[in-house]
Amino acid sequence: MTTHVQERRYFPAAAVALHDDGVRVESYWRDDTEVRVSVVPPGARVPDRPHGQAQVGMVIEGRLSVTVGEATRLMEREHHVCVAPPGVAFSAVNPTDSEAVLLELRRNKPGESYPAPSDWFLEPFESRKFVGMDVTFFVADWIELMIADIPAGGEMPYHRHSHEQIGICLEGRYEMTVEESSHELRFGGTYFCASQEGHGAVNPNDGVARSVNIFIPPRYHRVPGRKTTRNGEENSERENP
Ligand SMILES: [Fe+2]
Repeated sequence: MTTHVQERRYFPAAAVALHDDGVRVESYWRDDTEVRVSVVPPGARVPDRPHGQAQVGMVIEGRLSVTVGEATRLMEREHHVCVAPPGVAFSAVNPTDSEAVLLELRRNKPGESYPAPSDWFLEPFESRKFVGMDVTFFVADWIELMIADIPAGGEMPYHRHSHEQIGICLEGRYEMTVEESSHELRFGGTYFCASQEGHGAVNPNDGVARSVNIFIPPRYHRVPGRKTTRNGEENSERENP
């Protein structure tokens, strides 16, 4: 029974809700953080979140017109990230003829603050090879996102670190391990890894497995002009997973 409880903590089952305008939301929770995967039909709108939560958004299928505060952008798949601090309005509408999928992370953890870039949107910070994977980073003060392609037969070696890590499968499928639990992730499947919980990933399949992996605080980069990450660690682990 303990194993089952632990697995649910690392790989929670989705709570599914269908909203009036046809938006279908899969919601994954652990502690103070929610990951939402919303399938948005043409013309439909994603409503704002409850007051007090910070929010980070990325389009993972199609395109969406996203408004944060007073700024509106057409967000392309996996190409932009928006960061909305608590109290800053967020909404998204699908202006296209095709279905779109929005990935959101919502968080409200006591003692944390959630500064955002001045115009609320992030461009890709860096793309490069990293332990055999093609990766692209997005970086804000309190959070870093890494899109990673694990090639067929590739792996992210098992490791642990102080940063929280949360990941969502974007394409293909791969085997994710957190502590003693392993789970196959497919599109939208989510894992949660708290500080110092061991984790790794293997792609035993023929095709590429793509995921977005989210680090709180940032793990590999810092916003230019800042000397240390939020918890005071130097960014000296660039080639370590
Ligand atoms: Fe990690």
